[in-house]
Amino acid sequence: MRVFITGASGFIGSAVVPLLLAEGHHVLALARSDASAAKLAAAGVEVLRGDLADPASLGAGAAASDGVVHLAFNHDFSQFADSAQTEYAAVEAYGEALAGTGKPLLMASGVLGIAPGRIATEQDGLDLSASPRSRSMQLALELADRGVRSALLRLAPCVHDRTRAGFASVLAQIARETGVSGYLGEGTAHWPAVHVRDTADLVVRALDRAPAGAVLHAVAEQGITQRAVAEALADRLGIPLRSIPADQAASHFRWLAPMLALDSRADNTLTRETYGWEPVHPTLLDDLREGEHAAPGGH
Ligand SMILES: NC(=O)c1ccc[n+]([C@@H]2O[C@H](COP(=O)([O-])OP(=O)(O)OC[C@H]3O[C@@H](n4cnc5c(N)ncnc54)[C@H](OP(=O)(O)O)[C@@H]3O)[C@@H](O)[C@H]2O)c1
Repeated sequence: MRVFITGASGFIGSAVVPLLLAEGHHVLALARSDASAAKLAAAGVEVLRGDLADPASLGAGAAASDGVVHLAFNHDFSQFADSAQTEYAAVEAYGEALAGTGKPLLMASGVLGIAPGRIATEQDGLDLSASPRSRSMQLALELADRGVRSALLRLAPCVHDRTRAGFASVLAQIARETGVSGYLGEGTAHWPAVHVRDTADLVVRALDRAPAGAVLHAVAEQGITQRAVAEALADRLGIPLRSIPADQAASHFRWLAPMLALDSRADNTLTRETYGWEPVHPTLLDDLREGEHAAPGGH
């Protein structure tokens, strides 16, 4: 299959590309800069110069391919609403290019905030008030009615290896800066997690087999308490562990504070059974105890 991929130069995309190539796919990757183009060319893929903010470039990539994997996102959270709007325009461009073709469109999104207070499953629908990104995800699923094999890959908020771990990396950065490894209140809120290489494996399976309108959970661990995350970071960094009271959360955790307030657990039974997916790589706490975690750019 000739696969158009955005975000191929990012954390997850860098794990997906080698698997796509190993499966015999031809990969066409979006690059917005000379540096990303050079990195992608070195990885052995064909490069399409363009930008998320240029929907025509996305439409051209989709039209020239047999399927699309959309991973690109601007993770500067100070521009979150604008980035979500850009993502919506990207999905519109894919819709125009792919309508009536039956080709796959796999969109990355997240499980955080779905079904608060209980364990989210793949059958839980979108809550449009939960995130500005939800509208894009709804639009992507609606493309199933227009002849696109569109599917959502809802990722754990901590996609990890020994260098990056999503929101847990941001906690690591705050811990380094403040000299204490903090958790909010009792630290009993949970975040799900998944290893980046297990995630990449699921991307390739979903591209191949996910039916139109499918929702998959890229979740290996249902939920790890934030206290356990902070303990692992305290051990790794050799700094004290400390509970941060709610009235100090905004000053200590800054933009991450609302994410810490979300108690989120997610199940993967349907995804494992349907796609024969079995996560095999290390756990979040293992990677935090043994790695050197840096927050992603823009965080
Ligand atoms: N990592 C996690 O823990 C996690 C958790 C839940 C959900 N997700 C979702 O999974 C997807 C991939 O995440 P990631 O961690 O791999 O992201 P990442 O490492 O931050 O990479 C972002 C990618 O998007 C590209 N990009 C950003 N702005 C762009 C623009 N204007 N035009 C073209 N490309 C642009 C970047 O290109 P450059 O290399 O040129 O900058 C890069 O390839 C995202 O939708 C993310 O929200 C990730």
